[in-house]
Amino acid sequence: MHISKLLLLFPALLASISDAHPLAPYKTFEVLPSAPNGWEAVSEKAVDLSTPIKLRIHLAQQNVPQFEKALIDMSTPGHPSYGNHMSQAQIDDILRPHEDTAAAVRSWLESKGFEKDLSFKNDWIVVSTTIGKAESLLDAKYKVFRNSETGKNVVRTLSYSVPRNLHSSVTLIQPTTLFGSTSAMKSTILKVEDPSVLKTTFLSKPKLEGIDAACQSSITPDCLANLYKYKDYKPTLTNNKLGVNGFLEQYAQNDDLAKFLAKYFPSSKNVTFTCTPINDGKCTQHPSEDFTEANLDIQYTVGASNPIPNIYYSTAGRPPVVDLDPNTNEPYLEWLEYMLNLSDEQLPQTITTSYGDNEHTVPQSYAIKVCNMIGQLGARGVSVLFSSGDSGPGDDCTGKDGKKRFVPTFPATCPFVTSVGGTVGVQPEKAVSFSSGGFSNYFSRPDYQESAVSNYLSSQTDATTFKNYYNASGRAFPDISAQGSRFHVFVRGYDQLVSGTSASSPAFAAVISLVNNDRISGGKKPLGFLNPWLYTIATEKKGIVDITSGASRGCSGSISGAGWKATTGWDPVTGLGTPDFSVLKDL
Ligand SMILES: *[C@@H]1O[C@H](CO)[C@@H](O)[C@H](O)[C@H]1NC(C)=O
Ligand SMILES: *[C@@H]1O[C@H](CO)[C@@H](O)[C@H](O)[C@H]1NC(C)=O
Ligand SMILES: *[C@@H]1O[C@H](CO)[C@@H](O)[C@H](O)[C@H]1NC(C)=O
Repeated sequence: MHISKLLLLFPALLASISDAHPLAPYKTFEVLPSAPNGWEAVSEKAVDLSTPIKLRIHLAQQNVPQFEKALIDMSTPGHPSYGNHMSQAQIDDILRPHEDTAAAVRSWLESKGFEKDLSFKNDWIVVSTTIGKAESLLDAKYKVFRNSETGKNVVRTLSYSVPRNLHSSVTLIQPTTLFGSTSAMKSTILKVEDPSVLKTTFLSKPKLEGIDAACQSSITPDCLANLYKYKDYKPTLTNNKLGVNGFLEQYAQNDDLAKFLAKYFPSSKNVTFTCTPINDGKCTQHPSEDFTEANLDIQYTVGASNPIPNIYYSTAGRPPVVDLDPNTNEPYLEWLEYMLNLSDEQLPQTITTSYGDNEHTVPQSYAIKVCNMIGQLGARGVSVLFSSGDSGPGDDCTGKDGKKRFVPTFPATCPFVTSVGGTVGVQPEKAVSFSSGGFSNYFSRPDYQESAVSNYLSSQTDATTFKNYYNASGRAFPDISAQGSRFHVFVRGYDQLVSGTSASSPAFAAVISLVNNDRISGGKKPLGFLNPWLYTIATEKKGIVDITSGASRGCSGSISGAGWKATTGWDPVTGLGTPDFSVLKDL
């Protein structure tokens, strides 16, 4: 009845739809109340309606819950299918959109005159058109928006619509509402400290339980090897590989790596890494530039994992230099498409990423798509690690609705990511104050963490004190943690100190890569998606050292006392705790 009323009211709209394909009226598919924080519409710049745009229409997959269950089963110790990873062809067979879904979307596009502009992939359709035609196809209004921090412009729309009957067939159309592509995605590095502080670091070297006391004030590869107990492990060469992700024009430098290894890892001093460009990314060697993030990541994986080959994936992800080009070149989807297209032999078994974003600044439809693809990597047998972020419970603690709220980090909140928080000090090892953690507003709490997290929520005063600022039903993060403060890193030829969960994720990834190496050399499968295993062994109090002191801080004073305390069991600063390789290797 509702529909026939609309038909009567809008005869003009009806007439514009081809007779051969009667379509339901349009309904808003996604709408942002305003541009995300930091972006504003630039009224004086008009959008040229003839500018080319490539719209990517993602189709609804089939069997998503069945796929997710299979992924959890193959990742849960003791389950009959534990370790039975899938090939990409098997995954595609499960998830492939129903033929009616593809046909319905296709017939909509053809009825609108786009039949010559379409190309088809597995679960998406690309429409190569102009902004003007995209506006009428999607009932959208593209405008220029400027980022106040970087001054960069993007062309986006605050809302778009598709026919009502296609709402369940389409999951995502971009570029439309996704602003994160130019500058919002940030590396989670905190700061580079003045190298002059190094002079005060190595005055005395008494040992604390076998760990150099200097590790109390700054971290070297040796500190991590002793603390996480892999110092005496010598990996043998297998097909095991370790991947390090780079975005935002960060390029790992060979010269800095060589200097780092010569000083801190003389036994590995000639070791290097390979660089794989993705989406027109580069592998630039430019040692005079400040590539702190990339150097940190590669120096702490290469040093610890030698002779396991390390691959630096350099994904370009900003729009091309042409100002006001609407095409996203959004990095995560490009990177994931590339990775999922690799053969089993080419895929690394462990991947670390030190980038993230405030969850509410990425559209939920996009977050769900990226997370699904990360899950596919897990099903292929890859352990995918992300830093949890460097703002404790949140930076300015303003939610999407403008209300005061803790702000979670994406992709750390994706339930198929292993999210790594930060610690500091060695006696005891404590939570570091910037370590991000909390609860997702996009993803609900997965079963594997139900018992650990509900135990936290029912027993800790922080959970009650801050109950108005977080979503207790959301996926809780981080899962695990590792050192994150004052790492020695060579940048531009000099030894500097760097802090951030950007350091924690590579440090933990190195440990996982060593465990994978041990498994593979013993004829076993790699660990794959880690979380069900991590929460199981933590319950059994094996292989993970619970971090129970220290706390996070955040919200820049907008929420009084904002922060989470580390405590016995899982907590939203250090997750389950830090790794003990000597035990993990034999589990
Ligand atoms: C590094 O390479 C040089 C020259 O190829 C070689 O002489 C040296 O033994 C190597 N050092 C190590 C630790 O592998
Ligand atoms: C997928 O891999 C094949 C074979 O390596 C290659 O030819 C093709 O271009 C790749 N596709 C994408 C989207 O990367
Ligand atoms: C809380 O999280 C759930 C998912 O677990 C979500 O459906 C809900 O919208 C979230 N609430 C808010 C206020 O964001």
